[in-house]
Amino acid sequence: MLLLTVLFISLTTLFGCVASSSSPRYVVDVRRSRGLAHRQNIAGVMLDSPNDVPGAGITRLVLASDHSSYYATIAAGNISFRLAVDTGSSDMFITSTDCSSTICRSIPRYPLKYQSPTFASLDGNTTVFNVSYADGTYSSGYVARESVRVANLTVPDQAFGVVNETTVSFTDRISGVLGFGFPRLSRIYHTAVHGTPFFSSLAQQGIVDYPIFGIYLTRNSTGTLSLGAIDSGVVGNISNIEWHYVVPFAPEGALNNVSSYLYWTLELSSISVNGTSITPKPTYSSVTPDASSLALLDVGTPGIYGPYDDVANIYSLIRGSRLVDPNGQWAVPCDTLVTMSFSFGGQNFTLQPIDYMIGPASGNPNICLTWPRASQPTPDGIDWQLGAAFLRSVYTIYSYGINTKEAPVIGFYALSNQTTLQQDSTFVSSFFSANTATIATILPNSLLSPPSYTTPPYAFNTSVTAEPGQIVLSELGTSTYSPMIGTMATPQPAVVPLVTLSPNVVTLIVTNNGGISTSVSTAQDNQATLGIPYGWRSGSVKRYAVPSLVTTTLLLLLSFVTFSIS
Ligand SMILES: *[C@@H]1O[C@H](CO)[C@@H](O)[C@H](O)[C@H]1NC(C)=O
Ligand SMILES: *[C@@H]1O[C@H](CO)[C@@H](O)[C@H](O)[C@H]1NC(C)=O
Ligand SMILES: *[C@@H]1O[C@H](CO)[C@@H](O)[C@H](O)[C@H]1NC(C)=O
Ligand SMILES: *[C@@H]1O[C@H](CO)[C@@H](O)[C@H](O)[C@H]1NC(C)=O
Ligand SMILES: *[C@@H]1O[C@H](CO)[C@@H](O)[C@H](O)[C@H]1NC(C)=O
Ligand SMILES: *[C@@H]1O[C@H](CO)[C@@H](O)[C@H](O)[C@H]1NC(C)=O
Ligand SMILES: *[C@@H]1O[C@H](CO)[C@@H](O)[C@H](O)[C@H]1NC(C)=O
Ligand SMILES: *[C@@H]1O[C@H](CO)[C@@H](O)[C@H](O)[C@H]1NC(C)=O
Ligand SMILES: *[C@@H]1O[C@H](CO)[C@@H](O)[C@H](O)[C@H]1NC(C)=O
Ligand SMILES: *[C@@H]1O[C@H](CO)[C@@H](O)[C@H](O)[C@H]1NC(C)=O
Ligand SMILES: *[C@@H]1O[C@H](CO)[C@@H](O)[C@H](O)[C@H]1NC(C)=O
Ligand SMILES: *[C@@H]1O[C@H](CO)[C@@H](O)[C@H](O)[C@H]1NC(C)=O
Repeated sequence: MLLLTVLFISLTTLFGCVASSSSPRYVVDVRRSRGLAHRQNIAGVMLDSPNDVPGAGITRLVLASDHSSYYATIAAGNISFRLAVDTGSSDMFITSTDCSSTICRSIPRYPLKYQSPTFASLDGNTTVFNVSYADGTYSSGYVARESVRVANLTVPDQAFGVVNETTVSFTDRISGVLGFGFPRLSRIYHTAVHGTPFFSSLAQQGIVDYPIFGIYLTRNSTGTLSLGAIDSGVVGNISNIEWHYVVPFAPEGALNNVSSYLYWTLELSSISVNGTSITPKPTYSSVTPDASSLALLDVGTPGIYGPYDDVANIYSLIRGSRLVDPNGQWAVPCDTLVTMSFSFGGQNFTLQPIDYMIGPASGNPNICLTWPRASQPTPDGIDWQLGAAFLRSVYTIYSYGINTKEAPVIGFYALSNQTTLQQDSTFVSSFFSANTATIATILPNSLLSPPSYTTPPYAFNTSVTAEPGQIVLSELGTSTYSPMIGTMATPQPAVVPLVTLSPNVVTLIVTNNGGISTSVSTAQDNQATLGIPYGWRSGSVKRYAVPSLVTTTLLLLLSFVTFSIS
């Protein structure tokens, strides 16, 4: 989902200055050693606490049954939760037991009565957390800290939103969101001391071997999220990864005179449909040096959205297509056999019919609703939002960048060589009859006129340059990392950390200073009990002794000291 700050408004979907520190490792180690004594037999936890310090991890992604998000199972303290993974926002939140609305009661909630020993309040729970989405829904509460683990990588004092009020509803017992965007996009980062988002914490504290993550989505509802490494089960040959610079954003107004990274956004160079190329037209042509369109890669959005003119151009190349909803939804005959590709200046990443068709309309099952949809121009200048429907066609790698050394880049590894049509109408119709109910929609009887959108003023200061590939000083990975990806002139990393996931076994292949270590362990994240700490009956006040006030204070002091001296 594209999480919007007050400025940024968008459509339909759940829209969705702290310098980096190199020393909190000490605190990390203190907390880690606490975990060691308990590494055996913690049934409520997804995975054992590691007995050595991992630098990479991998976990499964699962498509929610309503197809609106992919979730990962994480642990907050000793408690497992499913969180929707999102590259279009940067905050993490978990619905808590303080929320007792109908929506909240139906999902596993963070049990505040449990008094998790790793939970830490911030400012007496008065730091307000509130994210609102363009469809009018929101989640709010306060900011607190907890030890957060994904795969087996732990951030001991991760700031997150403890949600006590929400109108966002999730299916499949998903309890919240885990955002992988840059700190600048985070609400918590701007409101709480040391409010760095989860992945930024891993990268800024040097917890991962390299500040990189990968997202693999399959057409059959599964996938992987790798942290600190790329999934070697997917990428056979790292030389075949195509890399592109992320586009930074200028400051708002006269706030300062430097650009910084905000969204996982790239320049989109062309779109092709049925063999014909279209050059997308940016909403604000003066934003990038070469007047390119900007595309956000957003795993938290199920579909694909683009500006009205581009989207209308696409459908003009598909016979029988028509606008069926004044909000920008098109439909095509379900037996349409054309491909649709997106290119960032290299290969064409190609969608087959089942990738861009959403499903047959209930009133007329010969007509299929399709991606992309047209969306309203937004003041942030993001033209295209490429969600899961696109990301299932290509493995994407997000290199976070290194302060003062390396710019953020996105790598693409094509999941198939097939840039031509591979599906026939029998395949498409059997796919839909097996996988999708028809989509309840009322198709109009007459031709609709195009929606009239007004373009808001551009939100950022165009007199400050924001060049893709710009090296920045802070908010990326700690400068103690050595660059691996290099510049786009030599974008061929010889070595990147690799990790792989097989059904029951986690194999970590960690490359460290040229050496390679391999370890194998059992993955248990599917067996996790959601929302309930091991051995704890909900309702009981607490089970484990809270660490003495002295220890807690010491740990908190340590973390603040280490953060303030850095
Ligand atoms: C976590 O990573 C470490 C380091 O590679 C490894 O030894 C350990 O087995 C892993 N644990 C799990 C449960 O994956
Ligand atoms: C996790 O649970 C174990 C008991 O199985 C407990 O001793 C430990 O303190 C808990 N750790 C955290 C971080 O809550
Ligand atoms: C903050 O919330 C936590 C968790 O519910 C609670 O234990 C703590 O007492 C609260 N602090 C204050 C000052 O209300
Ligand atoms: C959070 O934001 C929504 C939408 O802007 C608003 O309706 C709600 O009252 C806010 N909640 C809090 C606690 O600020
Ligand atoms: C949620 O938490 C905020 C911040 O502590 C508080 O102001 C608000 O009253 C709480 N709302 C509910 C419904 O508990
Ligand atoms: C899902 O797709 C992947 C890749 O196409 C494949 O390896 C895997 O076996 C499939 N899983 C199921 C359950 O079909
Ligand atoms: C990997 O790909 C590169 C470039 O396409 C090629 O030159 C190289 O031979 C490939 N390596 C292997 C092991 O296939
Ligand atoms: C844009 O940035 C420049 C350079 O920092 C500054 O002089 C100017 O006032 C800013 N423009 C606005 C509208 O704030
Ligand atoms: C920003 O302003 C500072 C002084 O305020 C100046 O030293 C620096 O060079 C400026 N940076 C850019 C990119 O213009
Ligand atoms: C991408 O597809 C278009 C339209 O079919 C074609 O003209 C173009 O050459 C393709 N680009 C690459 C790099 O294959
Ligand atoms: C694809 O393009 C060809 C001509 O290049 C055209 O004959 C055909 O109708 C097009 N298909 C669709 C579904 O628009
Ligand atoms: C793409 O084609 C190359 C060479 O024909 C082959 O080695 C590679 O495995 C193919 N990749 C996929 C994903 O099919």
